[in-house]
This record gives sequence, C-alpha cells and structure tokens, in this order.
Amino acid sequence: MRFLKVLFVLVLCGGLLFGGFLVYAHHAPIETAAPPAADTFDAATIARGAELAAMGNCNSCHTVEGGPALAGGRALETPFGTIHGSNITPDADTGIGRWSKAAFSRAMREGVDRDGNHLYPAFPYDHFTKLSDEDVDALYAYVMTRTPVRAPTPENDLVFPLGFRPLLAGWKLLFFRPGRFAPDNVARDETNHGAYLVEALAHCGACHTPRNTLGAEERSAHFAGGTSDGWIAPALDHKNPAPVPWTQESLARYLRSGFDRHHGAASGPMIEVARNLSRVPEQDVAAMARYVASVMGEPAPERAEKGRALVATLESGRTPVQTTGSSAPGGSAVPDPIYAGACGGCHDAERGAIDALPLSLATAARLESPQNLLHAVLEGVHPRNPKAAALMPSFDGALTDEQIARLADYVRTEIAGEPAWRDVAGTLAKIRKGAASGSGESTK
Ligand code: HEC
Ligand code: HEC
Ligand code: HEC
Repeated sequence: MRFLKVLFVLVLCGGLLFGGFLVYAHHAPIETAAPPAADTFDAATIARGAELAAMGNCNSCHTVEGGPALAGGRALETPFGTIHGSNITPDADTGIGRWSKAAFSRAMREGVDRDGNHLYPAFPYDHFTKLSDEDVDALYAYVMTRTPVRAPTPENDLVFPLGFRPLLAGWKLLFFRPGRFAPDNVARDETNHGAYLVEALAHCGACHTPRNTLGAEERSAHFAGGTSDGWIAPALDHKNPAPVPWTQESLARYLRSGFDRHHGAASGPMIEVARNLSRVPEQDVAAMARYVASVMGEPAPERAEKGRALVATLESGRTPVQTTGSSAPGGSAVPDPIYAGACGGCHDAERGAIDALPLSLATAARLESPQNLLHAVLEGVHPRNPKAAALMPSFDGALTDEQIARLADYVRTEIAGEPAWRDVAGTLAKIRKGAASGSGESTK
C-alpha cells in the first residue's frame, strides 16, 4: 500500500509539473487579419525590405531550388531530422496572408507562430530577435507584397519526441535570449551598423559558430567555425586559417561578388549568401566586412609577413608554395601527375589563364578536414555570378576515388605544406553516401 501511495504522489507531481510546463509553454493565438491591401506600404519601405530580406537569406530556406519565391518546402537537414522552411508568401490559406504585423513580429522575435506554436530554431530567430522595429516592419512590407503562392508546407520529419513542439519551450529556456541588438559603446558607428546587420539579420554565426549537442550556437565560441550541409564554415575569428589574412577590403569584395583574388570563390552554402549580398547596397556590405574584420583582429606579424610574401609571389606571376608544416616544403617535389594533369592547368599561376586560386592560398586545403576540398573536386565550383570567376568542372567520374584521395593528400601536404589529413578515403566515402549532411563528419 505504501508503495502505491508513493507511486501515486510521484505520478501526481509528474503530472502537475508536466501540466505546469504546458501552461508555461503555451502562447495565445493572435487574431487573423485581412490580407493587407498592396497600397498599405510605401515603395521605399518595400525596397528596404527587399534588401533586408537578401541580407537575411529568407529565400535560401523558404524557396525550393527553381520553385516560386518564398513559397516554402525547402528541406533543411539537421542532426535532429528534416525541417521544412514554411510558405511565407501572403497566401491566405497556406502562407502568412492572414498574419497581422504583430503575429509576424512575434514569429521573428520570439519564434512563435500565429497560432501560438513554438517554431524550430532552424529558423534563426535567435538572431532575428535582435532586429529593430523599423526593420521588422520593412520585412513585413516586403513579404506581404510578394505574389501569393498556394503551397502547403510539407510535414517535418524529426526524431522522436522532437515533433512535439511544446518541448521547444525547454530549449528556449536554456538557450534563447530574446532582446534587441545592443550597440558596443566603444566601436565606431560603421562597425556597430555592421555588427547589427551580421548578428541580427545575416546570421553568419548560424554556420560559422559551432553548435552544442542540442543544436544551439556556442556563445563562448562565437565565429570559431561551424558546419553547414556537410561543408566546414571556417572560423571567422583570430583562428581563421586563410593563408593571406583577410582585410576589410577583401572581405567586402568576397561577400559582395563571391570572389577575391587572394582567397578564391565562395563555394557550397556560401554561394547563396554572396549571391544575396550582391543585391545589397555597398555601404551595408562594407559595414559588415568592417565588423567581421574587427572580430578577426589584426593578424600576428609573422602571419601577416607570410601573407605578404605569398601575394608578392602571386603578383609576380609565379605559384606561391607553402614552406610551413611538418612535411617537405611544397613545390620541391616532382608534381603529382594527377595534379599536373587535372588541376595545375588552372590552379598554377604560370599556366592558369583564368582566375583560379593557387591551392597554396586556398582555405579548403588548410581546414581540419578535407570536406570542402573534396566537395569542390566532386561537385566543381559553380559561381552564380559568371563574371566574378570562371567555372571549375566536376571531377566525379573523371577520377577514381583512390585518385581523388591521393590528390587531396598531395594538395594538403605538398602544396599547402600541412600535416596529412587522417582518413581522406573515409571522409570521401561519407560524402558519397550523403552522410555529409548536417554536422559531425570531421575526421579530426
Ligand atoms: C536558415 C533557414 C532560414 C532562414 C535564413 C529564414 N528562415 Fe524563416 N523559417 C525557417 C524554418 C525552417 C521555418 C519553420 C520552422 C518551424 O516549422 O518550426 C521558418 C519559419 C518562418 C516563419 C513562420 C511561418 C509559419 O507559418 O509558421 C516566418 C514568418 C519566417 N520564417 C520568416 C522569415 C524571414 C522574413 C526570413 C528572412 C529575414 C527568414 N524567415 C529566414 C527557416 C529559415
Ligand atoms: C578549368 C579550370 C579548373 C580546373 C581544371 C580545376 N579547377 Fe579548381 N577551381 C577553378 C576555379 C575557377 C575555382 C574558383 C575560384 C577559386 O576559388 O580559385 C576553383 C576552385 C577550387 C577550390 C576551392 C578553393 C576555395 O576557394 O576554397 C578547390 C579546393 C579546387 N578548385 C581544387 C581543384 C583540384 C584539386 C583540381 C584538380 C582535380 C581542380 N581544382 C581543377 C578552376 C579549376
Ligand atoms: C548557410 C551557411 C553560411 C552562412 C549563413 C554564411 N556562411 Fe560564410 N561560409 C560558409 C561555408 C560552408 C564556407 C566555406 C566554403 C567557402 O570557402 O566558400 C564559408 C566561407 C566563408 C568565408 C571564407 C573563409 C575563408 O577563410 O576562406 C568568409 C569570409 C565567410 N564565409 C563569411 C561569411 C559572412 C560574413 C557571413 C554572413 C554575412 C557568412 N559567411 C554566412 C557557410 C555560410
């Protein structure tokens, strides 16, 4: 009997706690509103909204490849399953046509939809919460004046029990800090403007900051490098591994055109970011670059010196080689025949007629895993802006896996002068299996 009593009390307590949690987790629905008439918004607000939407990459997650703009359905692979970007066109039934400004604003700032359900943080509201009222209004004006598209958002496919949205209240309690952007009193205005755009809107940290096991960005490791779609998003702090240190100018060029002579082309998930930023006013991108450069900080004198030497070699029409690392200095060895035949024609400065970066300058060869280099070789590099950089073909099928692994080894040790990667073949196999999605495939 005593046992039953204890059990009863335990169940009661559990029930009360769970009930309390549900009450805590609950948000009231916001009344539907009639879709706003097109002349509700002035042209200047809509135009600024378009620029803000480009900086916020709304299209990247809310549009399927080749599909109607913002109509949702894009599948985002996360370590917890697949989440779909929703239809955010002003369609009354399947989009957000009946959402008032208050409902839109609550979604952006608190991650709660019009009905009161918690939204998954794959929607980067942990950044958007920092947006100013004025910018949320402009985004609302832009979104609500798009063409409505009737397209129900597909169901998510998440590991049990994460499909149960009230659980997100717990996640938010642990990791979500709602609140506006707080400018740094010491920084210059342009740096603050850039910090605001990067942190509140462009959410660079969503890819470039590592995440903890529950998928939240690690606050203590801001910009220390993360992953996206099986690619490494390199560190953007003082640990950035680019052989030629980034400057505000090179960052601005790369972000806005997707290419910089000393750093190469944006590839993988970064392509879309740069393509969006090409539609954004130059001074906004310059401010973002200024802020990112300030987070990176001045390079150490030795690194700056090495960078200058690499650039000087390149400017004189020769291929710079790295002489750092534990292996033999690059370039002295006989070139690998696969490299010479398949890659050198474009990537060696002496022979290259096009804007391909000598691989001794490529960040991809200096990361802790060969992921990015292997992706480039397998998929090729297809810049969206053909004027900014020429194209690299895919070598999938042209080279065997064994040849690709040997090539990666050669580029890593002989051209970049870095210690060999562990398990290149294993990483290649994982990419092939498509296991590359989400995170956690570093071969460190
Ligand atoms: C990194 C991907 C990503 C980006 C970038 C992104 N979103 Fe989303 N968004 C999502 C996902 C995923 C959902 C659905 C979340 C869910 O189902 O809980 C969502 C949901 C929403 C919702 C709620 C819609 C609904 O029906 O519940 C709104 C509004 C929204 N996003 C607006 C925006 C705007 C505006 C931008 C650009 C400033 C933007 N999003 C950028 C991924 C993204
Ligand atoms: C037809 C010319 C061409 C050939 C051949 C070629 N590439 Fe490229 N590659 C490019 C261009 C153009 C880019 C984009 C600009 C840049 O980043 O240098 C690029 C980019 C890359 C990148 C990404 C660099 C970065 O920005 O991070 C890597 C890695 C790479 N190539 C490796 C190789 C390897 C390995 C081979 C041989 C299998 C090869 N490439 C063959 C033209 C070529
Ligand atoms: C969707 C994920 C994603 C977002 C969002 C994103 N990046 Fe990236 N970024 C990447 C990936 C992946 C790479 C590596 C591929 C490459 O080098 O092109 C990269 C590369 C870069 C590089 C080159 C680093 C180097 O040393 O070679 C810079 C600089 C950069 N990103 C800056 C930014 C900034 C600034 C933002 C915000 C405006 C941003 N990124 C947003 C994924 C992202």
